[in-house]
Amino acid sequence: MELLKIEHIKKSFDGLKVVDDLSFTLEKGKITSLIGPNGAGKTTLFNILSGLCKADSGDIYFNSNSIFNKSPYYIANLGIGRTFQNIKLFPQISVWDNVLLASQNHSGEHFIKTLLPTKQVHEDEKNAEEKAMECLEFVGLFNKKEYFAENLSYGQKKLLGLAITLATGADLLLLDEPTAGVYPETRKKILELLGQLRDQGKTILFIEHDMKIVMDISDIVIVMNYGKKIVEGSPENVKNNQDVKDAYLGRGNGSS
Ligand SMILES: Nc1ncnc2c1ncn2[C@@H]1O[C@H](COP(=O)(O)OP(=O)(O)OP(=O)(O)O)[C@@H](O)[C@H]1O
Ligand SMILES: [Mg+2]
Repeated sequence: MELLKIEHIKKSFDGLKVVDDLSFTLEKGKITSLIGPNGAGKTTLFNILSGLCKADSGDIYFNSNSIFNKSPYYIANLGIGRTFQNIKLFPQISVWDNVLLASQNHSGEHFIKTLLPTKQVHEDEKNAEEKAMECLEFVGLFNKKEYFAENLSYGQKKLLGLAITLATGADLLLLDEPTAGVYPETRKKILELLGQLRDQGKTILFIEHDMKIVMDISDIVIVMNYGKKIVEGSPENVKNNQDVKDAYLGRGNGSS
């Protein structure tokens, strides 16, 4: 089943075409990796998909609803969550509260809640807490729930970023280099979690520079260069594609 459909998306910054007539679809329950050299436009595409950046033209459908240039709030409520290349957390509140805020925001609009009977509000709070607990346990940070987010290690912050995204209840996860800069042990753990999430039916769009990881984990690989999609296919097909080799050789090896 087609979960996300991107059609002819274009975005320029100061005349530079950063996303250039990009189209692809994502199948539900699959891991699709988005790869390409530094500056190819991958993060910009995530910003467009999550509503943080307005595209110039094109269309985007999620579950057949147009989400093109809609607000981040609207898009998140439909079930698209993302992590950031530069981790975004509330540093001076606890790990627990970081995740609880995400699960509460999803459990309904707050101004409506004030009109509801108290019992309903308590029920929502309880559900949000259960969700937060489940997400922290899933990433293995439940025993760190009292820590300030800023006191976690870099790898733990990446895991917390993932827990926050999961706590929103998103069906589609946009993960911007979730393993970059973390030690091999944590990287392995994150990759295992992504496999488990796929098995639970989540759909993942995954930006990653490490080719071995991409080849191991992906169902589909999409390669971008200068804002365009140059190749899409199975890991095996992409690995042997000459255009892909040229893209990487022409602009360094893409590692960052
Ligand atoms: N807000 C902005 N204003 C101007 N230019 C921007 C803006 N955001 C991104 N760019 C430019 O768009 C291009 C693509 O950037 P983007 O961050 O999408 O690349 P990327 O594929 O994610 O690269 P990397 O692998 O290094 O993370 C770059 O040339 C970048 O400088
Ligand atoms: Mg990027």
